[in-house]
Amino acid sequence: MQRSSATDSPHAAAPSGAGAEEPFTLFSQWFGEAEAAELNDPNAMALATTDADGLPDVRMVLLKGFDSRGFVFYTNTRSAKGTELADAMRAAGVLHWKSLRRQVRFRGPVEPATDAEADAYFASRARDSRIGAWASLQSRPLADRSELEAAVARASARFGSGEVPRPPHWAGYRIVPVSLEFWTERPFRLHDRLVFTRERPDGPWGRGHLYP
Ligand SMILES: Cc1cc2nc3c(=O)[nH]c(=O)nc-3n(C[C@H](O)[C@H](O)[C@H](O)COP(=O)(O)O)c2cc1C
Repeated sequence: MQRSSATDSPHAAAPSGAGAEEPFTLFSQWFGEAEAAELNDPNAMALATTDADGLPDVRMVLLKGFDSRGFVFYTNTRSAKGTELADAMRAAGVLHWKSLRRQVRFRGPVEPATDAEADAYFASRARDSRIGAWASLQSRPLADRSELEAAVARASARFGSGEVPRPPHWAGYRIVPVSLEFWTERPFRLHDRLVFTRERPDGPWGRGHLYP
C-alpha cells in the first residue's frame, strides 16, 4: 500500500491532475494520504452484500490490497458474507477517511483472489490470528465464549510449534469495480463527487461529476 503526504486542509482538495483521469491511480494517491493522516485503520472498509432474499447486509473488513484489477479483502468463506458472496458474486465497498473528509465507494462483480495472494497474506498474519482462523466458525451461533476458547486450544494443539497453513475456508475476494466515486467534502454541503463508470470490468472508463 502506497504512502504520500497528508493534506493540511480539513477540506482536502478536490481531485485534479493526471491521477484524476484514472481511478486506480487516484485511489492510490488518496490511500497514501489516508495512511499518513488517519489515526488508525485507513484501510477499514464497509463491505455491502445482499442475501438470497435481496436484503442488504453490511460490515467492516480491512482492505488488504488494490491495483488495477480491483480491491481485495480476506475472510471466512463460510461466514454470512462468504455465503452471500458465493450466491451473488457482487458487492460494494466504501471507505471514509474522517480526517481528510473524503470517501471512496465502489461496486461491481467479485472474483476470488488467487491462492497465492491469500497464502501470502495469511502467512503475514500473527500466529495467533492464524490459529484463530482455524478455530472460528465465523457467523455461526456461539453458545458460550468457552466453546471458542476450547476451539482455539484444539487448533493450537493441532499445529503445535509447526506451520499454521491457510484454512481451506479462509480466502480472499476481489471487487472488480464497474463504478467508483471519489467524494470530497466542500463548504455548505456543496461537495465534490467525481465518478468513474464502465459498462464491463474490462471496458473503458467514463468520467463525470454528480450533484452533491
Ligand atoms: C475495522 C474492522 C475490520 C474488520 N476486518 C475484517 C476482515 O478483514 N475480515 C473479516 O472477516 N472480518 C473483519 N471484521 C469483522 C467483520 O466486521 C464481521 O464482524 C465478520 O467478518 C462477520 O461478518 P459476517 O457475519 O457478515 O460474515 C472487521 C471488523 C472491523 C470493525
